[in-house]
Amino acid sequence: MEKARFTLHRDFCIGRIDARLYGSFIEHLGRAVYGGIFEPGHPSADEDGFRTDVLELVRQLDVPIVRYPGGNFVSGYNWEDGVGPVEGRPRRLDLAWKTTETNLFGTNEFCAWARKASTETMMAVNLGTRGIDAARNLVEYCNHPGGTYWSDLRRSHGVTEPHGIGVWCLGNEMDGLWQIGHKTAEEYGRLACETAKVMKWTDPSIELVVCGSSGRTMPTFPQWEATVLEHTYEHVDYISLHRYFARSASPTTGHFLARSLDMDAFIREVVAVSDYIKAKTRSPKTMNLSFDEWNVWSFTVDNEKEPKPWAVAPPQAEDIYTMEDALLFGCMLITLLRHADRVKMACLAQLVNVIAPIMTEDAGTAWRQTIFYPFMHASKYGRGTALRVEVDSPCYEDAEFGDVPCIEAVATMAEDETSATIFAVNRSTTEALPLEVDLSGLPGMSPVEHIVMANDDLAAQNTHENPCNVLPRPIGDAEVRGGLLSARLPKASWNVIRLASGKAQ
Ligand code: AHR
Repeated sequence: MEKARFTLHRDFCIGRIDARLYGSFIEHLGRAVYGGIFEPGHPSADEDGFRTDVLELVRQLDVPIVRYPGGNFVSGYNWEDGVGPVEGRPRRLDLAWKTTETNLFGTNEFCAWARKASTETMMAVNLGTRGIDAARNLVEYCNHPGGTYWSDLRRSHGVTEPHGIGVWCLGNEMDGLWQIGHKTAEEYGRLACETAKVMKWTDPSIELVVCGSSGRTMPTFPQWEATVLEHTYEHVDYISLHRYFARSASPTTGHFLARSLDMDAFIREVVAVSDYIKAKTRSPKTMNLSFDEWNVWSFTVDNEKEPKPWAVAPPQAEDIYTMEDALLFGCMLITLLRHADRVKMACLAQLVNVIAPIMTEDAGTAWRQTIFYPFMHASKYGRGTALRVEVDSPCYEDAEFGDVPCIEAVATMAEDETSATIFAVNRSTTEALPLEVDLSGLPGMSPVEHIVMANDDLAAQNTHENPCNVLPRPIGDAEVRGGLLSARLPKASWNVIRLASGKAQ
């Protein structure tokens, strides 16, 4: 195979990487909360009923922010049901996922869990069945120190210090017909604007995310963004994007792995619409993006469609990820990094059991799915500044995407500029890809580790019985000679090439 080539230079800067690019998501859905992060009685459960085996895996991912409590769930949720004495909390029908919500776990439990997981909370408010009043009350309950009805209610619930939640989502996927309380862009834009105003009046320090489209294929995209932003531009800080890719929707692996190009186009389009509204409203402010749901989701696990009606925390959307999924997942991570100038937050949907990197067995073990590893690598090594790489790569032809580069790549440089990392996927399923990188713009840097994750069987998975079937290994051959880095990227592989200058080694 021909070589892939690019040049790395410390001045080819895309932008500072906001750590919140490595956020995730816990929804009251399936076994994400109950049996996932919260399982009183589990052998590893702590005094709050939190599974410490899961907490340990979450810490390994170093997730800086977690969105909660939904998702579709939030659009029918009364947050007041989930606070106060547990005995008095109502059981409710959850119409989003056709289950029974016990409310044994709510806002205060989540914030306590988040503290133990060393993460921040990104709180979503219900703009489906509720509105301005419930949203401002929740901000007051969570963030006001005391001396008012809602803040004193929190204190009476044993939470003396305010939670200080900094990021709030104005509803969820309000463009979707499946959403409880779905709205037109006009209806949502007006409601989001008025809700945003009073939420910020209640706590001026908070940042707000307004709902963009729930996918690029929505018939209302991108007019939805334009209308919603016209109403809200001055009151919000981010617009959201959601995107999932199903393996079953791609005729070939080549097509499946190319779908990160669709994500790339989606980001460019939302940036374009945001900038159009910036110009139209003559605003000095630039709107940033919150890609607050993204993942591979194959919809092949039937349990989300027909769970036992009104069951309590049944297994739902428990996708088991393959090596092939991890490759597209890696391409999606790289795509987010390539837009680090405008995508400031992102949430891997989700974190535990529901389309998740971490799986658990009720009363049993917890293990890492294939997608756990690319996420962990990016979160650990992909901090600092994102560096632009303009790749000259061999391509393959795809009916939808045209010429698809065999390599998907980006680089990052640590804040102290003593280390850098190249993240690269070789999309070719048949051939190793020789890579050559001109490192003259990063003088003195050389590889300290080349991690590779690959498997001859693209369908290979990590399961409860075989949790270590697919693992990354430091077996790559990256080396540098005369300012040129060369490496062989095995066929269908995820690669992390870590560079350090002499003093950092
Ligand atoms: O993450 C699962 C679901 O996907 C969320 O509840 C919803 O927002 C999206 O459609």
